[in-house]
Amino acid sequence: MPKPLQMIVACTENRVIGRDRRLPFDIPEDKAWFHARTAGQTVVLGRICFETWPKVLADGRRPVVITRDATLASSAVRVAPGVPEALAIAQAMPGDIMICGGQRIYEETLPLADRLLLTLVHAELPGDTFFPEWRHLSWRESWRREGADARYRYTFSILERVRPTG
Ligand SMILES: NC(=O)c1ccc[n+]([C@@H]2O[C@H](COP(=O)([O-])OP(=O)(O)OC[C@H]3O[C@@H](n4cnc5c(N)ncnc54)[C@H](OP(=O)(O)O)[C@@H]3O)[C@@H](O)[C@H]2O)c1
Repeated sequence: MPKPLQMIVACTENRVIGRDRRLPFDIPEDKAWFHARTAGQTVVLGRICFETWPKVLADGRRPVVITRDATLASSAVRVAPGVPEALAIAQAMPGDIMICGGQRIYEETLPLADRLLLTLVHAELPGDTFFPEWRHLSWRESWRREGADARYRYTFSILERVRPTG
């Protein structure tokens, strides 16, 4: 049995995930959630996400970086030229498979995803990178927690993909 494909993302109501290579919001509780849920796991991510995530190699994460730049490979970092190759590598690695973006990787993997760990930030913000529309697909919410800080209200939820049986 292949391992389930899990995506993890924080996005605004207008589906913004990034601006100028950074997160468009600074929410400490979401950062802690993201780090905890990806620790010890195989993380599939694009080259910019890899280069801008200083702690990617901490806490036992095993990155599979999607890039044309094969020189990024090392004993700790696997490299793949596209999503199908990255997922094949990740299936053969230990731990859960967590897809961590960016935009094109989310777009290509959403149709395949079995679980979505979503932080929905209840705001509309400007940005240059987006999460694809997920709300028209069928999901069952298995867990939810509300949060807030001085600037934002947000909802953490775990959504399980519902596919027709038979
Ligand atoms: N809010 C969140 O949860 C979240 C999560 C992730 C990212 N972000 C934000 O999103 C932004 C970064 O994402 P991004 O979309 O700009 O960049 P990205 O996906 O991290 O990196 C883009 C690069 O990755 C490679 N790549 C990506 N998709 C590919 C594909 N399908 N096939 C082959 N190669 C592919 C290419 O690398 P080469 O050019 O090396 O070939 C491409 O130039 C930042 O602002 C970041 O903060 C936010």
